Amino acid sequence: MPTLIRIAVLLLLSTSALAQRAIDFSPLEFPSGGNIVVPVAEGETLTGLAAELDERTGGALSMAATEAKFTGETSQTLTLFGIRPYSRIDLIGVGSETVGRLTAETFGGLAASLNDGTSGTDTGILWSGIALGNDADAARVAFGYRLGDYRFDRYLETRIDPATQGGVTIYSDDAGAASRFNEDLRHLADAVWFARDLSSEPGNVMYPQSFVDRTREEFRGLGNVSIRVLDEKEMKRLGMGAHLGVGSGSSRPPRLMIVEYRGGGDGPTLALAGKGITFDTGGVSLKQNENMWMMKGDMTGAAAVTATVLAAARRGAGVNIVSLAAMAENMPSGTAIRPGDVLTSMSGKTIEIRSTDAEGRLVLSDAVHYAQIEYSPDVLINLATLTGSVIRAVGPDYAGLFSRHDEIADDLLASAAASGEKAWRLPLSDTYFDAIKSPVADVINAGAKGAGASIGAAFIGSFVAEDQVWAHLDIAGVDYTDAGSPTTPVGFTGYGVRLLDDYIRRHRE
Ligand code: BES
Ligand code: MN
Ligand code: ZN
Repeated sequence: MPTLIRIAVLLLLSTSALAQRAIDFSPLEFPSGGNIVVPVAEGETLTGLAAELDERTGGALSMAATEAKFTGETSQTLTLFGIRPYSRIDLIGVGSETVGRLTAETFGGLAASLNDGTSGTDTGILWSGIALGNDADAARVAFGYRLGDYRFDRYLETRIDPATQGGVTIYSDDAGAASRFNEDLRHLADAVWFARDLSSEPGNVMYPQSFVDRTREEFRGLGNVSIRVLDEKEMKRLGMGAHLGVGSGSSRPPRLMIVEYRGGGDGPTLALAGKGITFDTGGVSLKQNENMWMMKGDMTGAAAVTATVLAAARRGAGVNIVSLAAMAENMPSGTAIRPGDVLTSMSGKTIEIRSTDAEGRLVLSDAVHYAQIEYSPDVLINLATLTGSVIRAVGPDYAGLFSRHDEIADDLLASAAASGEKAWRLPLSDTYFDAIKSPVADVINAGAKGAGASIGAAFIGSFVAEDQVWAHLDIAGVDYTDAGSPTTPVGFTGYGVRLLDDYIRRHRE
């Protein structure tokens, strides 16, 4: 095929709607012009690349740093324009500690945000692992850059076209960085973008079936992957009365989407279940209007687990993972469930509905039951924007972590710390299981006052066998950020993909 036609075909086939700025790698040197980004270690005098650049600019850097009180403290930035031969120099502080993975990612993310909407001039990011320490991985800089470069602007008339943005080259002394990024971390960043896209899409666009369609598109062509979708008919046959109940108020039918990646041969299976409420009005127990729009993101758990499998499949990880996206739209209508209704879940347990707004635990109760009997996973983890209560408990920066098993809890906390997706363990003791007793059914879905996040966790836990290694992450506070950070711009965060990916690398491969 002639090259031009082949390129055209490839472009047409590239299903990902990701328009991204290209990131290239090059051996460490100062480019001859354009924009440059330079790390500055905190200290009395400029060292490493910053010292070299200072010399090249006749001391302009040290003068500017002194004048602007720029010390190189972590995440401090200083932009200088028009110092020859550069149009622009961005200095980014990396602190005085040994530069590790998160500092490198933050540096990359800051480079992206400083570079946002620039003139089209090429940008060179300089990074010396030798000067900054062996953990100062240039692939992590690229990863951070890609994470920080995310925006959701598809419905804006004036969108930034990455093609007009100028190229980005990372100049580093690390020859392996290009392949570590292109064959590995790039896929993880793309998966985070995918999760953010799914979450940011409005409820009129992203509903159970369109979530499935979008996922199929994204996984097309990947090996060792199978996608299975249970529709209402199949769910009825299986007796998934809890999940069906939640979906019954909507004209957009519920789905349970199962994505299975088998890269690990006969090894054990990790099951990831995600809450996928594509819009949560509260149902008949209607929510107030203020901030209700945010409930378009009540499916971020499902997005994160699906995207985690995507990242593993794209990089060809040697693991077996299955994600279960429990999807429904929670609407009030003449066919909706009501408070007082009793539903029979797939497990056979009956559930008294006290609030139709406690719907996440309902869809998950069937999903975790199904995951256990169908896949016998050695570990089961669920992610859900389950309660407002967890936000009151730990705020917007931490997910609540719940488990009956200390080892999986510790492993996940370690991955939370390493990936920068923070989590804090909250209690899950017998008291909370007592709080879900109902006078008319086996369990009640809401009603008990007090520790809402723990009670929600206990509800899901009551559908998980006690010896099943299981953990629940309540991500209601972390799925969206108002403040933004270098690697998570304001908006939906894609929380969980990096954390779960870290867990998979450490404990499953
Ligand atoms: N999706 C919400 C939880 C939520 C609240 C997520 C705020 C993100 C931000 C969930 O379905 C819900 O409504 N939970 C109720 C449970 C209650 C009725 C037991 C809550 O937290 O109020
Ligand atoms: Mn709700
Ligand atoms: Zn909800």
